[in-house]
Amino acid sequence: MISKSDNSKPVTFTNEELIERIFELKKQKNAVLLAHYYQIPEIQDIADYVGDSLGLSQNASKSKADIIVFAGVHFMAETAKILNPGTKVLLPDLEAGCSLADSCPKDDFAEFKAKYPDHKVISYINCTADIKTMSDVICTSGNAKEIVESFSEEEKIIFAPDKNLGGYINNITGRNMVLWDGTCEVHDILSTEAVINLKMENPDAKVIAHPECKAQVLELADFVGSTTAMLKFTMKDPSKKYIVATETGILHEMQKNSPDKEFLIVATDETCSCNDCPYMKKITLGKIYLSLKNETPEIILSEDVIKKAEIPIKRMLDISRKMNLL
Ligand code: 13P
Ligand code: SF4
Repeated sequence: MISKSDNSKPVTFTNEELIERIFELKKQKNAVLLAHYYQIPEIQDIADYVGDSLGLSQNASKSKADIIVFAGVHFMAETAKILNPGTKVLLPDLEAGCSLADSCPKDDFAEFKAKYPDHKVISYINCTADIKTMSDVICTSGNAKEIVESFSEEEKIIFAPDKNLGGYINNITGRNMVLWDGTCEVHDILSTEAVINLKMENPDAKVIAHPECKAQVLELADFVGSTTAMLKFTMKDPSKKYIVATETGILHEMQKNSPDKEFLIVATDETCSCNDCPYMKKITLGKIYLSLKNETPEIILSEDVIKKAEIPIKRMLDISRKMNLL
């Protein structure tokens, strides 16, 4: 549940004025701005921390700020609240949801889970707090393989909600997890045709892909990994050109870290050269400013949900720490 407010009213400040005010308010209120790599460049550039879902969870759990402003989507802000319940967590736009999290409603999942009473549940972090309360452990794309492999091969497992990531992990680990039928609309839409066409035009480019993409796209990739893993790969790999099968926002950090390299996004249609997540892109500088000023909309979760959901998330962070993934 999120408290109501309207941060969509147009603000008349320039970007420079907004940034100045955001910095003033952050200082005055002891607030931090956490941003996912899929945010617009202007937001990434002023954030206190920019990262993938795993890095953001770790950062939120350690934060000493009084307020966390989350430039990301619902499930990320909820995770921050669960890991840091004493902190006020703000999500600047109520509409910043996630098709993947929405694909797994709690009652339907409870029914599904009941069909497999002897199975453990591993849930991808891109799910609601309610689904987290029904899970044994959470994973992100940055640690999914290691989390799955922390269970013995005999263990029966349900993986939810992303069937593409779950299928990919089944493939590389030889497991046979039962998959919930959910997808991310931003990654699942990417086609093999689009990747092949780009590769034909740019035979010298390497293909890098996020595991939320379809199996056929992943098969064409030279490297598959989480947002941070892809970024690190482009920083150390000797190639000069990459075909990037994920959300457009990550190109900003890739280009910043490797200014001499070229990055080509796999677009969803021929009329643009982007693949934007419509939910991530709901967050703007104006909404961040209003959110900080008015301290709304705030993420509110019941004590019971926080208590139950923090167990599988902390389990994930513990395993990740032990495996040096953090
Ligand atoms: P990561 O940030 O973990 O790579 O996940 C990508 C994503 O789709 C976030 O919504
Ligand atoms: Fe959800 Fe996909 Fe957007 Fe990530 S990119 S927030 S998984 S819809």
